[in-house]
Amino acid sequence: MLEERARRERLLAQAAGAASACRRCEIGAQRRNNVYGEGNPCAEVMVIGEGPGETEDLLGRPFVGRAGQLLEKMLAAVSLAREDVYICNTVKCRPTLPGPRGPKNRAPEPAEMANCRPYLDEQIDIIRPRVILALGAPAAKSFLGREFQITKMRGQWYEGPLGIPLLATFHPAYVLRQTGGELTAVKRLVWSDLKAVRTKLDEAPAEAPPEQASLF
Ligand code: URA
Repeated sequence: MLEERARRERLLAQAAGAASACRRCEIGAQRRNNVYGEGNPCAEVMVIGEGPGETEDLLGRPFVGRAGQLLEKMLAAVSLAREDVYICNTVKCRPTLPGPRGPKNRAPEPAEMANCRPYLDEQIDIIRPRVILALGAPAAKSFLGREFQITKMRGQWYEGPLGIPLLATFHPAYVLRQTGGELTAVKRLVWSDLKAVRTKLDEAPAEAPPEQASLF
């Protein structure tokens, strides 16, 4: 297992190098750091968000701002530590809009997600998680199509890339924007979605059929 972990770490480091040289989108020239992703290269769960925000751009790490703190609490609620999972985004460069006090975060454009998709597919192929957790509508749509509606279609299992089960839930940044009764309601839905992830992980992993010779 240690060798396998080291092998995947090497592959991810190579792939991160290629992604950081990418200039397919304008945001590639504007960003401070390419936020490739981080976590356990042998993770059972891959968490995929939208795109890096200001803090992530500054530090070159995904989900390290307020949304990241909430994400860690959400994962801990189903006994998953940040170090257990692999965390990345649909785009590796921070999407921004000009603002009066400097660039503001924005959701990635479909074309930006399409440009970045080969890097994401490569990550999924290296890690081969048992489950993909997509955070928010843009990430879910990038896998499940533009018709995907987070309020109606979250919390259900879909077939993701490489046939990996994929479930979408609300983005932690969206949860942070809610107050009062809405906040309680959204937290309850996220909790039920995370329990579905836990249940899936607790199911026995699909095993390869035994070799013919070991049958007798
Ligand atoms: N929001 C995201 O979608 N990704 C991050 O890395 C941080 C905030």
